[in-house]
Amino acid sequence: MLRKLKKTKEIVGDLNNECRVIWFTGLSGAGKTTLVTEYQKYLISKNINSRILDGDELRKGLNSGLGFTDNDRKENIRRAAEVAKLFSESNFIVLCSFITPKNDMRDLARSIVGDKNYFEIFVECSLEECERRDVKGLYKKVRDAKITDFTGISSDFEIPKSPNLVINTEKNDLQTCIKILKKSIRIY
Ligand code: ADX
Repeated sequence: MLRKLKKTKEIVGDLNNECRVIWFTGLSGAGKTTLVTEYQKYLISKNINSRILDGDELRKGLNSGLGFTDNDRKENIRRAAEVAKLFSESNFIVLCSFITPKNDMRDLARSIVGDKNYFEIFVECSLEECERRDVKGLYKKVRDAKITDFTGISSDFEIPKSPNLVINTEKNDLQTCIKILKKSIRIY
């Protein structure tokens, strides 16, 4: 299935190191959903079963009732990671798109799905650029004081300590980002 690559050609771990959960972390508006959607098209073209788990989507159902305090976010991530684990056990590649703002939340996701099963991608984009894009109009609402605990503004985003990959969506266009993904994750 997937094997982790440190850089383009370097395999991390031994050859039995199979990895199915790809966890995209980054600010709202950084491009996580766009990347997972586009990368999934590539997996479909390779006849590889995949499943996207997206924060906005899960929060409409399984995780409705959870807000954006640190505790609620952690519970959101815990449930998402448990679901990701189940899908991965059925041989799906699971593309997880969650802000996952704190290192302890990422550690939790990693521990639930299993270290060897977890590939973390930091979708890097400055707050200024996310706010400029403001795809969902949320940043404007935050500035108008209609939303509290907003990541990057009134709630911290910790830069991931040791992601498997960093993709900068401000410096690279979408096609370049997808090329980086394809090169960095080898599919068997
Ligand atoms: S996480 O922090 O718990 O990982 P998650 O990825 O599920 O967050 O949900 C983030 C999405 O919820 C954002 O992309 C945005 O559309 C929406 N949202 C609504 N309120 C907030 C908020 N206060 N902070 C961040 N995102 C918010």
